[in-house]
Amino acid sequence: MKNKNSDLFFKNIRKDFPILDQKINGHQLIYSDNGATTQKPIKVIDSICDFYKNDNSNVHRGIHTLSERATDMYENVRIKVANFINSNKEEIVFTYGTTSSFNILAKGIEDQISEGDEIVLSQMEHHANIVCWQELAKKRGAILKFIPINKDFRLDLKEAEKIITQKTKIVAISHISNVLGTITPAKKICSIAHKYGAYFVLDCAQSIVHMKVDVKEIDCDFIAFSSHKMFGPTGVGVLYGKSNLLEKLKPSIFGGDMIYEVSFTCSTYNKSPYKFEAGTPNIEGVIGFGAAIDYLNEIGMDNIELREKELCEYFLGKVSEVKDLKIYGPNSCNDRSCIFSFNIDGIHSHDMSTLLDMKGIAIRGGHHCAMPLHTLLELPSTSRISLCFYNTFEEIDKIVLALKNAKKDYEKGEFLLK
Ligand code: ALA
Repeated sequence: MKNKNSDLFFKNIRKDFPILDQKINGHQLIYSDNGATTQKPIKVIDSICDFYKNDNSNVHRGIHTLSERATDMYENVRIKVANFINSNKEEIVFTYGTTSSFNILAKGIEDQISEGDEIVLSQMEHHANIVCWQELAKKRGAILKFIPINKDFRLDLKEAEKIITQKTKIVAISHISNVLGTITPAKKICSIAHKYGAYFVLDCAQSIVHMKVDVKEIDCDFIAFSSHKMFGPTGVGVLYGKSNLLEKLKPSIFGGDMIYEVSFTCSTYNKSPYKFEAGTPNIEGVIGFGAAIDYLNEIGMDNIELREKELCEYFLGKVSEVKDLKIYGPNSCNDRSCIFSFNIDGIHSHDMSTLLDMKGIAIRGGHHCAMPLHTLLELPSTSRISLCFYNTFEEIDKIVLALKNAKKDYEKGEFLLK
């Protein structure tokens, strides 16, 4: 189909995702938990099966045809990832996911941090972009500071200008908040960080699938993201770093394949990115990740952005009709993506998840691995609907209808029978 931004195109695309065609509790499944993980198109699923049927072997080790083929396939995905974010292949480290990317980075940078140095995060960070820095700060006597959010759930740029100073060594923020949906002004904050010679780290776990991420355009020093949030398999992620900065990072996982030479007493290490990839990697996961990137490229990130903007506007318009519902996030779809955390007065997020699940609607309830943000907002938890391009306007109608009936259904208590 030529017109890749028509509603019909995106409705047809649902056929690529076999899992979507099923009933849950007697209702057609509406999968709206894409912030937690996305579903996989048949091309991704097949690429993994085909690899095991035809090409399975270890990478970087064997001098035989299968191993060379597997190595070529694996390294070819590194090139695909590099092209996807406008970087070079040597700058792509395969990891096990965003959390492992952050851990490799925080561990690897340890030697460059001294007592009294400051690490600046924001108040809307996921635990993956908090806990590893807390550990580093404890070890090196560094200080963590947080850019505050304002009333509209955006980062307060004026405060950012004050908090980032000569003492700052690292500024690490999310590109899109996994709770608020806020798109942060990455380029602006990056330029403030660079003014003081600090590293700029961007958590792209949520943004990578909703918008074009161009590391050169933003001038990021490091970014992290996961394959499973972009229609690829779980257990694969990426740490991008500028070549000269990756060379300065120390590896923290040691063993086979990351070495140059090993003796009984000491070892020297391979160059980047290989020095960070010890042991047999998740080869089939990387192959599937490559298929996911091909799939996203076929649709086009521009078309995805447009589609999701339409879904965002439609959702915000419709959901405003629901009584007693409060959304935590910016009002304008220019500043946010399709991640909507909300509460309805008197209904706990876990009950809300169950109520909606009874109508076949999958959402996430809880603190979404962002406890400090929930504490700041004085919320024990929120319910979260996170959409992507395969969601439809008709699904949004059904979600909104379920939300309108939620109080009545809750009071009837039927969900307790589940
Ligand atoms: N980080 C994922 C989420 O926000 C798991 O749900």
